[in-house]
Amino acid sequence: MNCVRTSAIRAAATSRFATAAAAAPRTAAAASMQVRHGSSIDTSEYQSPFLGATAYRTTKIPDFSKYRVPAGTARKNQVFSYFMVGTMGALSAAGAKATVQDFLVSLSASADVLAMAKVEVDLSSIPEGKNVIIKWRGKPVFIRHRTPDEIMEANKVDISKLRDPQPDAERVKKPEWLVMLGICTHLGCVPIGEAGDYGGWFCPCHGSHYDISGRIRKGPAPLNLEIPEYEFPEEGKLVIG
Ligand code: FES
Repeated sequence: MNCVRTSAIRAAATSRFATAAAAAPRTAAAASMQVRHGSSIDTSEYQSPFLGATAYRTTKIPDFSKYRVPAGTARKNQVFSYFMVGTMGALSAAGAKATVQDFLVSLSASADVLAMAKVEVDLSSIPEGKNVIIKWRGKPVFIRHRTPDEIMEANKVDISKLRDPQPDAERVKKPEWLVMLGICTHLGCVPIGEAGDYGGWFCPCHGSHYDISGRIRKGPAPLNLEIPEYEFPEEGKLVIG
């Protein structure tokens, strides 16, 4: 009987101990939850790894100190920079000018073309009352050494009755020398000298008559014979063009 009671006591004690042991972890977990969510936690002890602790730095900044400009040398560098910029600017401007100049020169007429642009005539070889025809830029040019009578005849014409009114003085630089293009103003034939009804030039193509000043007097031509650019650079010399 005693033996049975002893066994019952032991069983009850073991059961109480097991219950206590099972309740202990639950109490610890509850305490832990309370610490994690509780408002009474003291955080002053926390240290961030990003607040400058040397042990946590991961960025390495190179040392640029040897590239720094020593104090007092900045002005010297500025002068050198200005000099280089100025020199390069001047060289570039000179190069650009030479390029543009060469390009424009290449567009201008060559020396042989320029030589053909002007024709020099020795007037001493043309006697009074005679015509000479020369070629200038592929066109015929009439040069007439007029007599005093021809000059007088040219001046006494009433220009108000002309188809292309023009006084003789406007058509010549020296009254004795008449210089004009030998191309009919109708359709471009070359008139014949010392012919026609007015003693000047006659175009046989359609019958135009020009007087001793080269003005149209009769026929289908609408205008006087054209006067080219010319000058007398010295006595006895004529330059056309
Ligand atoms: S081309 Fe001279 S009159 Fe016609």
